[in-house]
Parts: sequence; C-alpha cells; structure tokens
Amino acid sequence: MKNFTSVKDCINPSFKETGDAINSLVQKALAYKKDPLKDCKLGEHKRIGCLFLNPSMRTRLSTQIAAQNLGMEAIVFNVGQEGWALEFEEEAIMSGNTVEHVKDAAPVLGKYFDILAIRTFPSLKNREDDYSELFIKQFIKYTGVPIVSLESATLHPLQSLTDIITISEELSKTPPLGGRGAKVVLTWAPHVKPLPQCVANSFSQWVNAWGEAEFVITHPEDYELDEQFTKGATITHNQDEALKNADFVYVKNWSTYLDYGKIYCNDPEWMLTKEKLSLTNNAKVMHCLPVRRNVELSDEILDSPNSIVTQQAGNRVWAAQTVLSEILSATH
Ligand code: CP
Repeated sequence: MKNFTSVKDCINPSFKETGDAINSLVQKALAYKKDPLKDCKLGEHKRIGCLFLNPSMRTRLSTQIAAQNLGMEAIVFNVGQEGWALEFEEEAIMSGNTVEHVKDAAPVLGKYFDILAIRTFPSLKNREDDYSELFIKQFIKYTGVPIVSLESATLHPLQSLTDIITISEELSKTPPLGGRGAKVVLTWAPHVKPLPQCVANSFSQWVNAWGEAEFVITHPEDYELDEQFTKGATITHNQDEALKNADFVYVKNWSTYLDYGKIYCNDPEWMLTKEKLSLTNNAKVMHCLPVRRNVELSDEILDSPNSIVTQQAGNRVWAAQTVLSEILSATH
C-alpha cells in the first residue's frame, strides 16, 4: 500500500476481489488487537507526522497509539490551531489570508517524516471544490512520502476500515445467520449543524467494495449521497422498511449533497429509538462518534447492550495500525 485515502488504495494484485483484500486487512487488524506489539520493530527509527486542519479525539489518539505499537514516533501538529493558513490552489496570487503554499510546506514535511497523515475538511459551500479533494491530492503531489487520510473532504477511510473490522468481529461472535449475509443499514439521523458526507460516503464505498452484506441506505428525501459511493446499495426513504431484520444499524447525520451543505429536514422522527430497533434482528448499533445524544441517537439505545460504539471506537487503533504496517512493509 502506497497511500491510504480511499478503499481504492486497498486494491491489491495478490487478491482477485477487493472484498478479499479488505478481509485480509480485517484479519491483520484483529491479529493486532490480540497482540498489539507483535510488529513493534517494524517502524523503528521511523516517524509519522499527523497534521490536523480540524479537531479530532479518536483519529488523533488512535493513530498515535497505532504508530507507537509499531515502534514509530508520532508527532502531531494541529495546523488549524497552531499553524497558519495554507494555500492549495496552483498559481495562486497569495495576497489574501494564506501564508504558505502547500508546494513549499509539503516537501519540507516530506523531509521530516516517513509517513504523513492529514485530516482536512470540506467547506460545505462549494461541492465541486470539496469533491475535487484538492487538499489531499496536493499533499500526495508535493510531499514525496506516503500519505494517510485521517478524514478528507469527502471520505473517512480509517473510520470505514474500522467499521468493517467491527462488523466482522461481531459476526464471528454470533451464530450463523441461516445462510444469508448480514443486513447492514446506514440510516440518516437529525443533527443541529450541517455535517460533511464523509463518513456516510466512505462507509457506503467500503461496504459496497466488501460485498459481504446486504446493504440498505435510508434517509429523508433530498439527502441523496453521491452515487459513485452508494451504487450497489438499496436506497429507501422509508426508515421502518429499511430497519426490518437489520443486523447492524449505522447511524449518521449528513448535510445535503445535491443542494450542497444544507439542512433540509431535521425531523426528530428519524432518531433511532428502542421502538424502531424492535423492527430489526436485535441489531447492533454503530456510530463513528462524537454523537449528539437524544438528537442523533437516544440514551436508551446508546446505553443499551445493542450499542457497540465504544468497541467500534476502540478498533480505530487496529485499523490505523494495519494501514501503517501495510505502508511500512511496502516501503521497506
Ligand atoms: N470518528 C472520528 O473520526 O472521531 P474524531 O473526530 O474524534 O477523530
């Protein structure tokens, strides 16, 4: 693996199907979970820089722990708070607020670090700009070392790998589902702020590429996601219908994609409750966190045994460790 910015970076010639490549990463992650220090020399004398252009708790800490488990030194730079504004446009006349061009900053970072990990963010103002993924592409172009996305404008691949790891882990603990694949439902939930589509896009992209689940996406009208990520899933505006016999329910808010970055419907009826969960096959409930309690997800669900959000967040370490290990092995 050279860079890690989407499921496409997992395509590996050793595997005929992307699903097999994903399953191989899942097995590697679960092996790290059992024995975190098994490759503690792999990253010895190597350094990862973690650049955050916006806040994070889980991504930041799990990536640092993952790097340390592999013997790497991790250095975090909160560019959004401690740095100055970077310019990403080619041929920009920098007479405004941006202080340094990525063309100048990125090669310097490439001298300091063996791997550079970056969290960027969407403007939610201009869809074409956000979906061009200019920030992450410019870092790939100018840094000269492998780039790991810690969440970009449109995708959150470390979260999605974690999510597949968590679903696989749960499936290995439960009795067989009578010959059928697991039913995984991604449901939109209300929120007070317009949020990016990253987690929903990325989860859809990974579950479709994994190919081992019946995948249903449910959301109110006008919350359609970009088809390039959802193609392959069943999409319905009827949440109750979607929830029927679900084994996993992934709850997430996102703002509108078509009329970009807006909140249209914020119907509290879309919040997952015990009553709605009773339609499912006693489904496990997932959320990437942070979660707005009693807006996105009710206390009664989050505090119930159905919720696996803490297990899911814990698995962020093993997803990050797997990705760093793959990159280190490829660059040895
Ligand atoms: N899920 C997630 O990315 O969490 P953080 O924003 O805390 O990193």
